[in-house]
Amino acid sequence: RRGNVTKEQIRPHNLVQQLPRAIIIGVRKGGTRALLEMLNLHPAVVKASQEIHFFDNDKNYARGIEWYRGKMPYSFPHQITIEKSPAYFITEEVPERIFKMNSSIKLLIIVREPTTRAVSDYTQVLEGKERKNKTYHKFEKLAVDSNTCEVNTKYKAVRTSIYTKHLERWLKYFPVEQFHIVDGDRLITDPLPELQLVEHFLNLPSRISQYNLYFNVTRGFYCLRFNIVFSKCLAGSKGRIHPEVDPAVVTKLQKFFHPFNQKFYQITGRTFNWP
Ligand code: A3P
Repeated sequence: RRGNVTKEQIRPHNLVQQLPRAIIIGVRKGGTRALLEMLNLHPAVVKASQEIHFFDNDKNYARGIEWYRGKMPYSFPHQITIEKSPAYFITEEVPERIFKMNSSIKLLIIVREPTTRAVSDYTQVLEGKERKNKTYHKFEKLAVDSNTCEVNTKYKAVRTSIYTKHLERWLKYFPVEQFHIVDGDRLITDPLPELQLVEHFLNLPSRISQYNLYFNVTRGFYCLRFNIVFSKCLAGSKGRIHPEVDPAVVTKLQKFFHPFNQKFYQITGRTFNWP
């Protein structure tokens, strides 16, 4: 009598909801969804599908840690649960809150060249406005202060790309060894080596292989192959076409980010070829 059987009764008895042992804390538009989905190819990784927003949302946080655990997928004890909520990286209260849950948690940050990330961030907001038939400023107008002609550091898409500023807040709670930086630009063009670095960081045996990742020409991105019958690409909202930005503004932003990038390389020990 199937009608009387609860989900609980048909679930293998050793499945449990575990708190995450690793969190993708950001950065928004860095490729956080792709990273989570690709790590989920690993048999020992289980993902929380939704962004939980536990640590950055006061209302959720007030619900307590057991509420958070209840949002986690069922997994076997040897598996590790991962969640991603990109707002964690830039939200003031989050490092202390995560530290209180688990001071030895592993933290993943996926970054892209900061100006590209800012434009991607802008593009997402623009699309939201267009969906509601609203007009929106041009990127150039938001990113550069029209009075001073300087980069507008009040603009959120600019501030989010100052990675070192945010990271420095996290470093008040966690040692740098607890972070792993993922190259979001390389995750787009050649994901496997980036995923192998993450497997190593998470102390997992190397299980994700080239078989699991195939380039889909129509999609213009790598897609995921779990097995002979099941493959998937990310949703169409991942990989938007960016508007063209005035090259002078691009250069201005690149110059602005440069010293912050240098500091970021120095702290993390990972260097990128950003301009
Ligand atoms: P763009 O839309 O600017 O191209 P997030 O998940 O953090 O919002 O990041 C979105 C970005 O992930 C996209 O930015 C896209 O370039 C990138 N991405 C990386 N790998 C991808 C993949 N395999 N499929 C689709 N998008 C991918």
